[in-house]
Amino acid sequence: MSEIEKIAKQIVAKGRGILAADESTGTMTKRLSSVNVKSTAENRLKFREILFSSEGMKNYIGGVILYDETIKQKTFSGKTIPELIESFGSIPGIKVDTGAKKLAGSPEEKITEGLDDLRERLVEYYKLGARFTKWRAVYNISDKFPSELSIKSNAHALARYAALAQEAKMVPIVEPEVLMDGDHDINKCYKVTSKVLQECYKELFLHKVNLKGTILKPNMILPGSNSQKKSSSVEIAKNTLKCLKENVPSEVPGIAFLSGGQTEVEATQNLNEINKINNTNFLMSFSYGRALQQTALKNWAKNIKDTNDTQKIFNHRSKMNGLSTMAKWNINLENQISA
Ligand code: 13P
Repeated sequence: MSEIEKIAKQIVAKGRGILAADESTGTMTKRLSSVNVKSTAENRLKFREILFSSEGMKNYIGGVILYDETIKQKTFSGKTIPELIESFGSIPGIKVDTGAKKLAGSPEEKITEGLDDLRERLVEYYKLGARFTKWRAVYNISDKFPSELSIKSNAHALARYAALAQEAKMVPIVEPEVLMDGDHDINKCYKVTSKVLQECYKELFLHKVNLKGTILKPNMILPGSNSQKKSSSVEIAKNTLKCLKENVPSEVPGIAFLSGGQTEVEATQNLNEINKINNTNFLMSFSYGRALQQTALKNWAKNIKDTNDTQKIFNHRSKMNGLSTMAKWNINLENQISA
C-alpha cells in the first residue's frame, strides 16, 4: 500500500474523523463577529489552539484541515501548528482552493479557483507538515441549477487539483458540496448529488487519480433547508447510502461528510444512522466544521481566557461524532459531558 493510501485510511479509521478548521479569514471573521469577538490573527489562533490541544483530539480526530494563515502560525509555546496537531496523534491537512468565484457563462453559479501556482503551493504545504489537502466545489439547487456548465467545470477543477495533490504526495479530499439551501425535497437532492458525483469520478478517472489515495467529502442526501417535507434520520441514511453506493467507485476508502448547516446533534445522529445500516465497504466518517465548533465557539466567546470549558464542549462533540462512526451513539449520551 502506498503512503497516501495509508494516510487516507488512517484519517478516517473507525472511531475517528476530521476537524474542518479551514475557514478562510473572511468566513472566520463572520463566525467570530456573530459571537462578538474581534477577528484578529491572534484571536483566530487562540480559539483554534484551544481546539487543537483538546484531549478529544487524541481519540476522535484523525485529521485537521487548516487554512493558509493557521498552518504558518506558531502556538503560544513555540510549536508550529502542524507539530501541535501531530503531538495529539492527528494528521495536519490544508485547504488549497482559493475560494468559489462567479462562474463566467453562468454568473449566478460558482466555480472554485486556485489551480494557478497550485503545484508550487503544494510543495510548500508539504514542507510545512501537511499530508492531506482539501478543495471544495459548491452547487446550488433550483429549477435551473446546477447547470451542466457548473457540474462539468467544477468536476474538471476538482480532478486537476486531486492529481496535483497526489503528485505532491498528499491525499486529496474531494469535496463537491450540493448546498442545502432551498425548498427542494430529498429526491431532488438525491438526483443532483448523483449527477455531480458521476461527473466528478469521470474526471478523476480521466486525470488518472489513484482513488485509493483519496477521501470523498460529500453532502448527505437531505431535503432543502426550507422544504415543507422533513425527512427522518433513517430516510436520510438510506438515501445517502444508496446514492454513494451507486455513484462512488468502490476503491475509494473513506467518505467524510460535511455538516453543511445541520445542527450539531442532527449531523451526529444522521452519521450514526448511516453507520448502523452501512451496506458498503466505505468507512463512513465526518469532516465537520460548524457541527464540531459551534457550541465551543459560543462558550469561548463568553470568556476568551477560558480554555477548560471550551475544551470540554469540543471533547464531547468529538466523542459523540467518534461514536457515530461506529454506530454507538444515542441521544442519552448527549447529556453526559465529562472532563
Ligand atoms: P461544515 O461542516 O460547517 O459544512 O464545514 C465543512 C467544510 O469544510 C466545508 O468546506
